[in-house]
Amino acid sequence: MQTTVFLFHPHFEESRVNHTLADALDEPVTVRNLYQLYPDFKIDVPTEQKVLAQTDRIVLQFPMYWYSTPALLKQWEDDVLTYGWAYGTNGNALHGKELLIAVSPGADNYGKDQFARYTITKLLRPLQATSRLIGTNYLKPFVTIGASMISDDALAQQAQRYATYGVDF
Ligand SMILES: Cc1cc2nc3c(=O)[nH]c(=O)nc-3n(C[C@H](O)[C@H](O)[C@H](O)COP(=O)(O)O)c2cc1C
Repeated sequence: MQTTVFLFHPHFEESRVNHTLADALDEPVTVRNLYQLYPDFKIDVPTEQKVLAQTDRIVLQFPMYWYSTPALLKQWEDDVLTYGWAYGTNGNALHGKELLIAVSPGADNYGKDQFARYTITKLLRPLQATSRLIGTNYLKPFVTIGASMISDDALAQQAQRYATYGVDF
């Protein structure tokens, strides 16, 4: 069972939370740092499709940006999830694989009665709908809420949970 983490962080060298989470992962989980691979946003589509095809569990890891994803993840979706490959006629390359969203919202004010108004579950709906379109099994998202002010202890625990999730889920 191969798990690949597709990590999207535009300033990974300055990252505390996503860096700690990614560092907690170990073999046989593979981490691909997409901003490092494609700083110019020119994604090698055949390579990315090959990696996806060989993966059983696809993890999309990113900090929440503007209630959504960093721009390169959107570009990756646009370029890599092509018609006839990921969806549409004969587009079944990803059918039956698992998809896990691992997102870190900096704030902790999500929910109907709170400032952001919407839950993280609702804000992730475009990714959930995409999962349905491409035929992947959408796993319960791994959310590191309040990432901007998370304590060292809580972050260490979260990283441990992530490592276990990555291996056992
Ligand atoms: C451009 C930008 C947009 C952001 N948008 C959001 C947002 O919409 N909601 C939120 O909770 N945090 C937002 N944040 C905060 C980041 O999600 C947070 O700093 C990050 O998850 C912390 O992880 P890191 O230590 O790996 O960078 C934003 C940060 C930046 C730089």
